[in-house]
Amino acid sequence: MILRALIARGTSALDQGDISNATRDARLLAAHVCDIDPSRVTLHEMDEVSEAVIARFDDAITQRLNHRPVSRIIGVRQFWGRNFQVTDDVLDPRGDTETLIAEALQTPAKRILDLGTGSGILGITLAAEQVDAVVVVTDISKAALLVAKTNAKRHDVEDRIEFIESDWFDSLHGKFDLIISNPPYIGENELEGLEPDVIDYDPIIALTPGGDGIEPYRIIAGQAQNYLNENGRVIVEIGHLQGKDVKNLFLQAGFSGVQILQDLEGKDRAIVAKHPV
Ligand SMILES: C[S@@+](CC[C@H](N)C(=O)[O-])C[C@H]1O[C@@H](n2cnc3c(N)ncnc32)[C@H](O)[C@@H]1O
Repeated sequence: MILRALIARGTSALDQGDISNATRDARLLAAHVCDIDPSRVTLHEMDEVSEAVIARFDDAITQRLNHRPVSRIIGVRQFWGRNFQVTDDVLDPRGDTETLIAEALQTPAKRILDLGTGSGILGITLAAEQVDAVVVVTDISKAALLVAKTNAKRHDVEDRIEFIESDWFDSLHGKFDLIISNPPYIGENELEGLEPDVIDYDPIIALTPGGDGIEPYRIIAGQAQNYLNENGRVIVEIGHLQGKDVKNLFLQAGFSGVQILQDLEGKDRAIVAKHPV
């Protein structure tokens, strides 16, 4: 069988299984099992594929039919132009989170704290983009921190990153120019509305803090000023309906210049706040 026929078979199976973006997913999975760059699939379409490749592809398609996200099947997600390892222990990074990086890079920071780092995308990207920055990344999950360490090595920034297991600020000390975080923010009563790709595969601790979903922002707004240098900033990701509530938390805590930032779809996606003056 040639690669083109294999991809067509996979696309058809995904279509029948009501998986959206069937063609894109089948091509990405084919690239993975053939060990070629996705941008080169077309060049190899007429190549014969081995029985071993067919078996691996069929297994990948079965996983996708069970709603396992492509990034988890291939073990990699691209974020801000770099590939990050993704395992079952971490949130599958979302493109919307790049909104925080775009904002962070507007104002260079030398000491950066990434709270709830997961795969490490925020802290590692900022360390890679700002070569004189030192970064502390934290997570309550030991397993997530191991994934972040692997990713830091992959991007050659592990020497400038400290990894700390901590419940938000509990095990932290020192001051930072930037505190950045994408905390779990889904309300407990919203969980049942989530797609199977999300609720069946992202760690629950990465999705929800329980209750109304706002508790991490109460903690961050309440304590961040103890860990910020003068002129320091906080940037946190938010759910698209949480802008007003989270903005108010930072205003009540005395932060200045509190703004809601939108993502590329025009949805509220982040709050930026400056050290209280
Ligand atoms: C939404 S995920 C974000 C992961 C990563 N920063 C990203 O954007 O892909 C939230 C992360 O916060 C961590 N977390 C949850 N509760 C925490 C707590 N109490 N203290 C520190 N980290 C926590 C989770 O383990 C998870 O890695």
